[in-house]
Amino acid sequence: MSKAVSTLTLQKYKRDGRKIVALTAYDYSMAKILDKAGVDLILVGDSLAMVALGHRTTHAVTMEEMLHHTRAVTRGVTNAMVVADLPFMSYQVDVIQAITNAGRFVKEAQAHAVKLEGATRLNLEIIERLVGMGIPVMGHLGYTPQAIHGLGGARVQGRSADEAVKLIDDARALEMAGCFSVVLEMVPTAVAKAVTERVKIPTVGIGAGNVCDGQILVTDDLMGKFTDFLPRFVRRYADLSQVCQDAVGKYAEDVKSANFPNASESFLLPKEEEEELMRKLAQESVSSGEIC
Ligand code: KIV
Repeated sequence: MSKAVSTLTLQKYKRDGRKIVALTAYDYSMAKILDKAGVDLILVGDSLAMVALGHRTTHAVTMEEMLHHTRAVTRGVTNAMVVADLPFMSYQVDVIQAITNAGRFVKEAQAHAVKLEGATRLNLEIIERLVGMGIPVMGHLGYTPQAIHGLGGARVQGRSADEAVKLIDDARALEMAGCFSVVLEMVPTAVAKAVTERVKIPTVGIGAGNVCDGQILVTDDLMGKFTDFLPRFVRRYADLSQVCQDAVGKYAEDVKSANFPNASESFLLPKEEEEELMRKLAQESVSSGEIC
């Protein structure tokens, strides 16, 4: 059995030029599949609000919902590092709120680390405090979905020189504060490359080109399970939505034609036991007056 992935493993992968494989998961069975397939980092992303709970943005998901799903994921994982996303408004109020909620992910759901979006002064203070108490933190820069309304939509970030410089400064600030890694979402490849070359911590890209130290996607997008929209940066490796629809269609046909369940899918009594039972049931019906 391979050794469990830690923050040190991921940082070594960057030094060795070995790309980090990361994906999201929201439940036990998918977490188990990803872990068995050798995924290094599993994120219980707040994207669960959209792909698993059907909300339009990531805002609505609560701490209790995130904890519930994180517990399910950690039960399915042996090797990968599990990172839980701090949901919207679970860390933006103050350091105490952030520490309390990050601690719940580790204590109540066995997460190995937490992720938060942006590099505000408050975030940097939160990161320092969490890292100081032994809770690893992953940063998230570029397009940060919790700020969708402030950013004017899901748009590429860091296009201008000023924005690119700010992104590099923010990545450096996250590194200085103690983040073990940073997600770069929807930034031009050239900017992702500049950030990746300037920080020692691994960058994990989503819509940031192939220059990052690793890649992450929302598993439901990659699997073709979530089909409401398809971001340009997603590559679909399966069409689970169609596979599931076909399977359910066949099941419906079999139920309607009584082709399901067959004998091997049922509990049949041995012939003599069945005959004896039928005789007794017939007598029972006669004595209770059902059959005249
Ligand atoms: O919530 C999420 O799934 C994420 C990834 C897209 C990085 O933050």
